[in-house]
Amino acid sequence: MAQAHSTDLKVVRTVADLRAATLGWRLAEEKIALVPTMGALHQGHITLVQRALEAADHVVVSIFVNPTQFGPTEDLDRYPRDEEGDLEKLRQLGVELVWAPDKEAMYPEGFSTAVTAGSAARGLETDFRPHFFGGVATVVAKLFNQVRPDFATFGEKDYQQLIVVTQLARDLDMGLEILPVTTIREPDGLALSSRNAYLSEAERAVAPNLNQVLNEVANAVVAGASVPHLKAAAEMRLLTLGFTKVDYIEVRDAATLAPFNLDHKRPGRVLGAAWLGKTRLIDNVAVEV
Ligand code: PAJ
Repeated sequence: MAQAHSTDLKVVRTVADLRAATLGWRLAEEKIALVPTMGALHQGHITLVQRALEAADHVVVSIFVNPTQFGPTEDLDRYPRDEEGDLEKLRQLGVELVWAPDKEAMYPEGFSTAVTAGSAARGLETDFRPHFFGGVATVVAKLFNQVRPDFATFGEKDYQQLIVVTQLARDLDMGLEILPVTTIREPDGLALSSRNAYLSEAERAVAPNLNQVLNEVANAVVAGASVPHLKAAAEMRLLTLGFTKVDYIEVRDAATLAPFNLDHKRPGRVLGAAWLGKTRLIDNVAVEV
């Protein structure tokens, strides 16, 4: 269902105003799609918004740099913020409502409950960012309860997050459908990310190799190569190409993130995280069996 193109974009910053802005839609039984973001919107986010506009009568985009998913030594303070630019982009897309709480509106004095992410959160990102999925699961559960959407769009760019959130919505009967959106890339294969802004020119030139190497691993997995051997070779190759550290290269079941087994004839996913200086990049590609 297409939404009437409109320049009337409303920004709400309290849960009460959010509820008031969505009440009429809910009473009219109109469908709502939520697009959760941390702002600094790029074409990847825009594609999520377009998918949401296709799916529902009304789209709510949330912009909140969620402190609970950042570790103490991570980039919370320098994470890119550009609310004016973000609002202009959303206005042009015809989005009606932006939910942009400040930290106190999201985590008021006395806040003390947390959601524990399920089995999909084991390993991968969690081995290197142990706080991450607890923070994501809690804020996403809050966003779902605040907006009460019928749909929410999530990018495959953050593949483990997509599976964790899909489990969360199902396990906690959140009553919405998670719509996955394919990863949007630069022409050279680098996945769009707000964190790409941190890359120096030299690092930016090396960055697309992450996608390249993950694709090579995926092709070799399909051809029957040994996964432990492939992982070790891919890590070596990334270091040779100029990455400064490789957190992981893993091959998992695409639906559950359980260990991959070619004999199961189920789709797989190659996931990787690697550093270029102070910038950590993640990416993933499909293993089509
Ligand atoms: P953020 O990094 O802003 O990403 C918001 C959404 O955009 C996520 O679903 C992410 O997967 C998607 N996205 C980012 N880059 C993309 C790309 N190149 N192609 C397609 N989709 C892309 O992910 C978060 O925020 C937060 O963890 C959040 C879910 C908002 C919870 O705080």
